Amino acid sequence: MKKFPFSRPRRNRLHDWSRRLTSECTISVGDLILPFFLVDGSNKKQAIKSMPGIYRYSLDNLLKEIEKVAKKNIPAIALFPNIENILKTPDGSEALNYDGIIPKAIYKIKKEFPDLGLMTDIALDPYTSHGQDGIINDMGYVLNDETVKILKKQALLHAEMGADIVAPSDMMDGRIGVIREALEENKNTLTKIMAYSAKYSSNFYNPFREAVGSSANLGKFDKQSYQMNPANSDEALIEVGLDINEGADMLMIKPGLPYLDIIHIIKKQFKMPTFAYQVSGEYSMIKSASINGFLDEKKIVLETLISFKRAGCDGVLTYFALSAADWIKDN
Ligand code: PBG
Repeated sequence: MKKFPFSRPRRNRLHDWSRRLTSECTISVGDLILPFFLVDGSNKKQAIKSMPGIYRYSLDNLLKEIEKVAKKNIPAIALFPNIENILKTPDGSEALNYDGIIPKAIYKIKKEFPDLGLMTDIALDPYTSHGQDGIINDMGYVLNDETVKILKKQALLHAEMGADIVAPSDMMDGRIGVIREALEENKNTLTKIMAYSAKYSSNFYNPFREAVGSSANLGKFDKQSYQMNPANSDEALIEVGLDINEGADMLMIKPGLPYLDIIHIIKKQFKMPTFAYQVSGEYSMIKSASINGFLDEKKIVLETLISFKRAGCDGVLTYFALSAADWIKDN
């Protein structure tokens, strides 16, 4: 019998150098995508109450923020609009306006920052008067195929204006295939699709809905007839399998931290570029606890980011990306 104890896993944990040397994964600036909220007009910087420290910017101010992103060498940003209520309609037609804030912003951002990855949201909720991600019938049910037809046009418009990645976040069936086919037919053969494949019907999205201005319109309704049931994991594999077959280049799981098990099984099974969205509610929890002095923001954020990597993520969409980029460097 061996003498107690020859195996001492603590040996490797003693020094900073040995901890770094035996670390199984790392987080780098190259793993980050920063989401931004955009409003019309100029010289605007609007606070979002439920997301302290995050703002909606008009394009002129957004470009200054993007300058910081580019300086820190963060690879990509994601854009979400907040449009005025008077522009919202039951069919979300403003989403297809060539002069709308997103198409104009895509064009301008790509012109000024050609080397920065630009990802755009394909969904109708910021544009509909009822706050749903698609068009609805008399019962309030979101109509799948009718919605997909509009999403296809929205994706084509974004690709045409220069978006590098179109990211359908709507959870309609069959939308990846329809968008991929349309992009190919349009000779947008290099436009990438990041599919929000496993997007759960989550209460962690509430602050985002304040940010894009859809919460009041959505009212008491929810998105359970199209976003996934938090109780399910096999279903996530089905969704991902479909999206890959339909032509997705990258996959996303959303929210992040409560769904690390889903990230893990998806990466293990499909080996695709896989991303987590550390969503608005996750941001708000960490930020508000930090503001109160209950948590150390830097340490908590770095711990969550490394957890995403350990679970199998290639990258993370996070509202913390700007500060995380600094913290990663001095870590
Ligand atoms: C909607 C969309 C949502 C988010 C991204 N796209 C919210 C929703 O489904 O209601 C959430 C992002 C976040 O909470 O940070 N198409």
